[in-house]
Amino acid sequence: MEYNVNIRKEIFGATLLNLNNGKRVYVTESELESVTQEKIFPDDVASIMPQSEELNYKLTDYDDYSNSFSFADIAFLELTRGCNLKCKHCLNNSGISEKNQINFEGWYSLITQLADAGIQEIRFTGGEPLIFDGIYDLMKHASELGIFVSIGTNATLITKEVARKLKENGLKRAVVSLDGTEEMHNEIRGEGNYKKTIDAIKYLQEEGISIKVNSVIMRSNMDDVINLAKQLNREKISVFIRRFIESGRGANLKENMLSKKDYEYVNEALREELESAPYVRGHYIRLTDEGKHARIELPFALRSGCKAGQRALVITPNGDIHFCGFLAAQGFEPISNVSKIEDWKVFWKDLQQTDKLEVLENNLENYNNQPGVQPTNCLAYVQRYLNGGK
Ligand SMILES: C[S@@+](CC[C@H](N)C(=O)[O-])C[C@H]1O[C@@H](n2cnc3c(N)ncnc32)[C@H](O)[C@@H]1O
Repeated sequence: MEYNVNIRKEIFGATLLNLNNGKRVYVTESELESVTQEKIFPDDVASIMPQSEELNYKLTDYDDYSNSFSFADIAFLELTRGCNLKCKHCLNNSGISEKNQINFEGWYSLITQLADAGIQEIRFTGGEPLIFDGIYDLMKHASELGIFVSIGTNATLITKEVARKLKENGLKRAVVSLDGTEEMHNEIRGEGNYKKTIDAIKYLQEEGISIKVNSVIMRSNMDDVINLAKQLNREKISVFIRRFIESGRGANLKENMLSKKDYEYVNEALREELESAPYVRGHYIRLTDEGKHARIELPFALRSGCKAGQRALVITPNGDIHFCGFLAAQGFEPISNVSKIEDWKVFWKDLQQTDKLEVLENNLENYNNQPGVQPTNCLAYVQRYLNGGK
């Protein structure tokens, strides 16, 4: 029987991830005991977890705990810098695969190591991950190890047949990029690509793969992204409106980052959608206190809205390890390289004790104290600020 829940033990109890619907909850030690010994979930989360008789969990334990999560929730594996598109705003300058990058065997072994250390989700991304030879086998491998498998994709290569293969190999969620309605999307991503992506969404839905649309908002496409969000809301498709960061090719699109005022405008324009249904969300675009509270009290501060270093790791095609892709794209030094890691559990624990995060977190606080800035929890904004951004 396939695993359907990934349990990672924590200093406070455990993090549970339902491997079918991607829902994550924190439980206390005594609640964990009920789950593992009696197959009983706490009442308030039972509806989003499997039925008792179907429970088959994977559990990762640790010898000792630091005052943080025991491991990252998600690893973003950037399989390649190669891409079939050349989007105008691409933070990674994607388009051409570089030589001497991690190969299939390297990624395969890395997935095994991350699974042993307690990773719960792997997001294959890039570049365009679907051009990586062997991606289906990597997905299957991750899925069999009790990991929630997702992909970040422009989806233009997803035919009916590809969608079926993705499903067969364990893909649970596709995070699909759409940067506006047809004309605007094609202007940014190339002629004909909107239609291909819309068709792909349909094929993925037919296979029962969960869809989340990622939409990067810039001043140049602001109203169009609002229209797209309204359209997706009507179609009951989740959309996450992402902040634009001026890096990679995106550095050519000057003055395109939204100001505090712009975000107020977008929030107002989407007020009805935000209030009526859960489909439209985004950086700085949400109901005010949403997502700020964990289900149980955690013994450490949860940085909501930013996973860098606390809940996520990013691995670039050459094996460099970063807190986040936005920091990587802005030239932030890698934390390490996969070739140097002997024990991922030890690496993570040591990472929580370094002051790298502390420095960034202090800078974040200073940034938020500047008059007139868009308040943020995003550490990459800090880096941008230190680099002389507005
Ligand atoms: C780099 S792409 C890689 C995956 C895939 N090729 C795609 O297009 O979705 C991952 C996500 O980053 C977004 N992105 C690209 N450049 C960005 C930028 N300058 N600022 C913010 N997000 C950006 C893309 O729109 C996409 O949603």
